[in-house]
Amino acid sequence: MKIFLDTADLESIKKFNDMGLLDGITTNPSLLYKEGGNPKDAMKEITEIIKGDVSLEVVSTEYSGMMEEGKRLREYGSNVVVKVPMTPDGLKACKSLSSEGIPVNVTLIFSPNQALLAAKSGAKYVSPFIGRLDDIGQDGMHLIKEIKEIFSNYDFGTQILVASIRHPIHVIDAAKIGADVVTLPPAVLDKMMKHPLTKIGLENFLADWEKLKAENPDIKI
Ligand code: E4P
Repeated sequence: MKIFLDTADLESIKKFNDMGLLDGITTNPSLLYKEGGNPKDAMKEITEIIKGDVSLEVVSTEYSGMMEEGKRLREYGSNVVVKVPMTPDGLKACKSLSSEGIPVNVTLIFSPNQALLAAKSGAKYVSPFIGRLDDIGQDGMHLIKEIKEIFSNYDFGTQILVASIRHPIHVIDAAKIGADVVTLPPAVLDKMMKHPLTKIGLENFLADWEKLKAENPDIKI
């Protein structure tokens, strides 16, 4: 399973990328707004830091605007995946951009039918938003199961990118289903690394090593 970071925060991107954990990045206008500053600089820098796919989103709502923006976004780097919304114009732009060899991520997917249409339109990724479904009392993870089942019947080549992840259990469930990618807020990736027993265990090992050192002042590992 690939791990993307869902952020425009350069510090987090650098931190987790240096750890070798990141396969890509997803951004959206809200995430860029959250960081402030000039979004063009941020988008450029992200595409330079990250070797893998970086999703950058169009803001036009009609086909020709999406095509223009998509092509401009691709100028930031050859790793740019153009993110388009799940609308009729978005699907049309997905088909055209994909046919021109520009990879597309269809975002704001909330139903299996939307995922099916995006895959038929040549999307490299579909982004089902599970947290936002959970927020309104629907089962977000059930959507991932349904999309996985549908995609496994065919050969679309479209990857399931689980988005709107809220906590580490979402990641475990997505991995059990066999989703291709999870895109994580930095806080969720941080939490995945931690366990209280790991912390306590390490503290105990180090304390015992100090005791050994007291008895053997010259020892080194
Ligand atoms: C994915 O590409 C989106 O940027 C993101 O996962 C949305 O998450 P949210 O529902 O927490 O805003």
